[in-house]
Amino acid sequence: MSSKIKIIGITGSLRVKSYNRAALRAAAELLPDGSTMEIVDLSPIPFFNEDVEAAGVPQVVMDFKEKLAAADAILIATPEYNYSIPPVLKNALDWASRGTELPLSGKPLAIMSASPGMFGGARVQYHLRQVCVRLDLQTLNNPEVFIASANTKFDQDGNLIDDFTRISITKLLLALINKTQERNKTN
Ligand SMILES: Cc1cc2nc3c(=O)[nH]c(=O)nc-3n(C[C@H](O)[C@H](O)[C@H](O)COP(=O)(O)O)c2cc1C
Repeated sequence: MSSKIKIIGITGSLRVKSYNRAALRAAAELLPDGSTMEIVDLSPIPFFNEDVEAAGVPQVVMDFKEKLAAADAILIATPEYNYSIPPVLKNALDWASRGTELPLSGKPLAIMSASPGMFGGARVQYHLRQVCVRLDLQTLNNPEVFIASANTKFDQDGNLIDDFTRISITKLLLALINKTQERNKTN
């Protein structure tokens, strides 16, 4: 009997009406059978500070790292801030990169980004990929999911209302699950 694939969903936006959070919620609804997703809230994670770390890693950070360690795969949906990674996401990844237990090492990662702009956050994805090399994440190269004009792709309640985006997210999830199954077979 095979157990379910556990995916952790992370977004770099703390905004209540975030398009990226809405994209993660849509992904959770589009997951194929045999997989689950938990969307993690990054808002309680403090700013990384080596003094704080030396005094004792905060419990919220340990809880976050434990969730990552227990996951089979990661899905990040992030905004683009000034062509790059929002601080809340980079901060969480920085915490995850510290210590002897590296919970992300070797794990499959899928990235998507949503923006009201016409490029859908394409530029942040390439900065994020670079950081993920250091974290030893196995980032999917394809398909790439850029949710451009995001303000037209979700309704007022954050429901996904665009078929092309729905298909794109479904393909990304299938690719992530395939890669995760391959990895789980060899581990
Ligand atoms: C500080 C800041 C910088 C931004 N820079 C970019 C950018 O470089 N490219 C872009 O497409 N949108 C940019 N935006 C607009 C965001 O795409 C937009 O606020 C988006 O809704 C954020 O994602 P969210 O809806 O998930 O919160 C920026 C927004 C902020 C607050």
